Amino acid sequence: MGAGKAVQNASLGEEIVRRVNELAAISEGGDKLTRVFLTKELRAASNVILGWMREAGMSAHLDAIGNACGRYEGEQPGAPCLMLGSHYDTVRDAGKWDGPLGVITAIACVADLNRRGKRLPFAIEVVGFADEEGVRFASTLLGSRAIAGTFDESVLNTRDRDGVSMRDALIEFGLDPDHIGAAARARRELLAYLELHIEQGPVLEARNLPLGVVTAIAGATRLAARLTGMAGHAGTVPMALRRDALTGAAECIAAIEQFCRTDEDELVGTVGYIQARPGATNVVPGEVSFTIDMRAPTDMHRKRAVADVVRQIEAIARRRNLVLQLDVTHENRTVPCAPWLKDQIAQAIAAEGFSTFELPSGAGHDGMAMIDIADVGMIFIRCRGGISHHPDEHVELADVDAGARVLLRVIEHFKPR
Ligand code: GLV
Ligand code: MN
Ligand code: MN
Ligand code: MN
Repeated sequence: MGAGKAVQNASLGEEIVRRVNELAAISEGGDKLTRVFLTKELRAASNVILGWMREAGMSAHLDAIGNACGRYEGEQPGAPCLMLGSHYDTVRDAGKWDGPLGVITAIACVADLNRRGKRLPFAIEVVGFADEEGVRFASTLLGSRAIAGTFDESVLNTRDRDGVSMRDALIEFGLDPDHIGAAARARRELLAYLELHIEQGPVLEARNLPLGVVTAIAGATRLAARLTGMAGHAGTVPMALRRDALTGAAECIAAIEQFCRTDEDELVGTVGYIQARPGATNVVPGEVSFTIDMRAPTDMHRKRAVADVVRQIEAIARRRNLVLQLDVTHENRTVPCAPWLKDQIAQAIAAEGFSTFELPSGAGHDGMAMIDIADVGMIFIRCRGGISHHPDEHVELADVDAGARVLLRVIEHFKPR
């Protein structure tokens, strides 16, 4: 590698890190990063991203669900595209890399091509998906599902924790809930979908490797549970007569943890949100809602585990005389990455002088939705301590550089199937 190229690539990484920090400053408040679907902060972030896309030589627009979409034409205008993407929404109290790194790195690669006046035999599109995390409404991958044409209109009626429906939130954001179909793309428009993302786990770090080739994205099931008992006076209702929804939920949550812990094969289960009503010190809780997130390396394993957990929760509710309502709010199958894309990513990693290593993704990604209209490939970048969905999420500049170089090489050497 010549000295000139090394200098240029180092600045590519620095620019990416600067932008990751710039985007992280757009937050719903407090000193931690939170930027969920259809908020004014998400809107502000989309404007910044669209500006970066235009600066990089792309035409750019906000699509019908709020995805930031940029297009860099190839040698012939109107050619099918290699789509690069990731999400720019975050979880609550998030790290700044999960999601935006993939969008910003893709834009940086296009900017580099544009500076060199280089056009490819295909177009490049970069998408910043507006909702991957699914933390505001019950469903997830809403940005990529809209592009894949699999957006389920029934989620428009779901409400966030403040009671705002997705339909109203879309209108407030400046979008038309009745025209989300306009975001959909056809399979023939895409040559492939590629995503660069932090690993969000400890495997690459343990192996002392900056980069990995993703083999598959693990499936996930999300459920919403509601237990209804009987609210009452904390001083007068005898313990034996109580129908306490919160102690019932506590027993369910402990059972889920115990069940997943005793599984030998990487089953994970999480209750990440709980709300007790009416919610007062001196009132026996009459109603409790909580979420369940379950994942396993294979779909069969996950489905069996979900069925077992549901049976246990039903039994606990029955024994405690609580009414149970349990809904599956989200179900995603395990998505394999395409072997031909894995090969091209591995070749680029090797050509940049790194060892190639394959690993699965335990976290969800937009590729889970994009698989319906394109083959999917993913590059993982090492993160510190495997920490993610936490403010301490961190990626080293050298690894950002390495990832950007590899992505650029994949793009420049890309051979459609
Ligand atoms: C989002 O990051 C998820 O994997 O649920
Ligand atoms: Mn992510
Ligand atoms: Mn995430
Ligand atoms: Mn994710």
